[in-house]
Amino acid sequence: MNDGRIAIDWDSARASNRDNWEDRVPLHEQAYGISDFDDPNHLTRIIRTDLAALVPFLPDGSVSGLDVCHLQCHIGTDTLSLARAGARVTGVDFSPGALESAANLAERLGIDATWVESDVLESCAAVDGDFDLVYTSIGTITWLPDLDRWATQIAGLLRAGGTFYIRDGHPALYAIDEHADGLQLRHPYFGNGEAQLWDDESTYVGDGKLTHSRTYQWAHPLSEIINSLIGAGLQILRVYEDKTIPWKFAPRMVEVPEGFAWPESERDLVPCTYTIIARKAGE
Ligand SMILES: C[S@@+](CC[C@H](N)C(=O)[O-])C[C@H]1O[C@@H](n2cnc3c(N)ncnc32)[C@H](O)[C@@H]1O
Repeated sequence: MNDGRIAIDWDSARASNRDNWEDRVPLHEQAYGISDFDDPNHLTRIIRTDLAALVPFLPDGSVSGLDVCHLQCHIGTDTLSLARAGARVTGVDFSPGALESAANLAERLGIDATWVESDVLESCAAVDGDFDLVYTSIGTITWLPDLDRWATQIAGLLRAGGTFYIRDGHPALYAIDEHADGLQLRHPYFGNGEAQLWDDESTYVGDGKLTHSRTYQWAHPLSEIINSLIGAGLQILRVYEDKTIPWKFAPRMVEVPEGFAWPESERDLVPCTYTIIARKAGE
């Protein structure tokens, strides 16, 4: 079966992906609504949604005063929203341009934050200290070939009793042909270790073209995501599946207050995102 997947070594795939993410930084600086942060109460919609799901599982019901590590922090808008909610934040990303942009925004807003340039799969060795919360969301593990290694980094970054939170596009959604007229399966739901090669000059927000258009992404079924966390010693506290997603995954999606969703008649047919909240055992 030719399902578009290819074998590629991680160093080459990561280099292509990093070039692609570097190209996106100036476009996202224009499209992410950064001037909204001039309102000192502004938090991104992603963080407002995630805090509502997360805080019931935090020991004091708040991120205030917690040490938080944000993996794949991009240009820092969610990281700085967590800081505005009271957390001490460290953002990790492999894109130097994204981190420079994040640091500039933090300085402009007068927010203390630490930024670490690292492959997320090597983040435990790159980041100093340990954390009450490791957070990652919306556009994360499809960029990674090896979830066991990913989950090991998360477990290593967490303090005993610390919490892990992820919300991202559902693997069942990623199996759908985003350009088809109706809900139609096209891409593999199950991973086989090989990468899906994408060639796309556009990004998910705003206009403008990317010079480095080739990326490599990996399918990870929900069982693989959950089992990687269990395998790293984390206890799963809660799993949610939702019918909305923060970005327009397909042209046929319609805008709703939480972001985007399929037309109403199709909304119960397939999940758009999943959320997992997990905990590292206490001492
Ligand atoms: C869609 S963003 C996710 C952040 C957040 N949802 C946002 O929109 O600001 C994906 C981020 O993952 C980063 N990334 C991709 N692969 C990575 C890797 N192997 N290690 C570290 N960061 C990586 C990219 O540089 C990018 O900043």
